[in-house]
Amino acid sequence: MKFKTKIKQTKYQNEFKTLAQAKLANNSQLRSKLKTDEVILKAAELLSQNQLVALPTETVYGLAANALSPKAVSKIFAAKGRPQDNPLIVHIADQAQLKELTAAKITAKTQALMDHFWPGPLTIIFPKSKKVPNLTSAGLETIAIRMPAHPLILAVIESSGLPLAAPSANTSGFPSPTQAEHVYHDLKGKIPLILDGGPCQVGVESTVVDLRSAQVKVLRPGGISRQEIADFLGEEVLLAADLKDDTAVAPGMKYRHYAPNKKLYTFNFEDKLFILKKALKKAESKKIAIISARNSKLDNYQLPTKNLKVLKVFSHQKPAELAQKLFALMRSLDADPEVEEIYIEELAAQGIGEAVMNRIQKAAAAEEYSQPGGGDN
Ligand code: TXA
Ligand code: MG
Repeated sequence: MKFKTKIKQTKYQNEFKTLAQAKLANNSQLRSKLKTDEVILKAAELLSQNQLVALPTETVYGLAANALSPKAVSKIFAAKGRPQDNPLIVHIADQAQLKELTAAKITAKTQALMDHFWPGPLTIIFPKSKKVPNLTSAGLETIAIRMPAHPLILAVIESSGLPLAAPSANTSGFPSPTQAEHVYHDLKGKIPLILDGGPCQVGVESTVVDLRSAQVKVLRPGGISRQEIADFLGEEVLLAADLKDDTAVAPGMKYRHYAPNKKLYTFNFEDKLFILKKALKKAESKKIAIISARNSKLDNYQLPTKNLKVLKVFSHQKPAELAQKLFALMRSLDADPEVEEIYIEELAAQGIGEAVMNRIQKAAAAEEYSQPGGGDN
């Protein structure tokens, strides 16, 4: 079906510009006002008719559908061009919704994590109930669930009464959308409505955590760092990708991800200094962009005066800054005719830096994946 895609804002848009989305998500007064906003009601109506709506979360924009309807969920896979073996995350606004989605009793550890980190960028894997269609979980016996920390998606969930399956609202394989305009760019004509809730404040996707065995594992690093989870639980938390056990990793991880169309390389000032040197040499004939830290050692190098765009946009002390901007930067450099190749200064894979480096490395390795343009994470 062809749609004339609309971008709409609620009456409360100004509040999203100035205040932390996570704070607003916990503001029950705002949430109850939002529930009667015309735009929220429209989104809820479309979703209950099994249509798709793109919604802001604190991480990235999601492409939402009624998680319990195979008909609705199949539209997500079609609109994104997403492989059907990549399961979706289901979004809820209240822990009471877990009952119809999950099969087993919630463990004390899971309960503690939910109480502490929700609403927020933490997705938990649960045994799935029979009510959840196989399409939503891509045939798995488990279901990934999170409570997002953005008041708009929470209001839509509350107003529709539906659990919402929502992957990132981009074309599969490409950078995730962190602004309503990014969604429009990728999905215009394919969906009826995009709710604009301002730029996402976290900027990388949620952390996917598996608590089903004694050893807590992060399947996908994201907005909540492994360290934060480990500190909270008082135990070690492993990264599934380090376990050399393919079955432990989130199913979507095998696909091309997050990648701009242009070639992207990473460098540092130790073992990957040669890449920076090559880049500076390339600038004699090619237009390149370098994304670097403000406090970068790049300042010690003689930089070419033409063919080079340097974007000093983060600090090594605050990896969250790059997390918030990363996907938007990739998109804008992709669209920039003054740039043919993109180079990014690496940062320490610590705290949210682990998720940032994961996204950057996947984007840089896009060509190694078996299904270019397909898949998504
Ligand atoms: O922040 C986010 O998580 C965003 C926003 C929209 O909430 N959503 C998102 O969804 O990133 P998506 O579909 O792009 O990524 C979902 C990830 C994939 O890596 C998928 O393989 C994994 O979660 N996943 C989903 N269900 C799973 C399951 N049952 N077991 C293991 N991994 C699962
Ligand atoms: Mg994704």
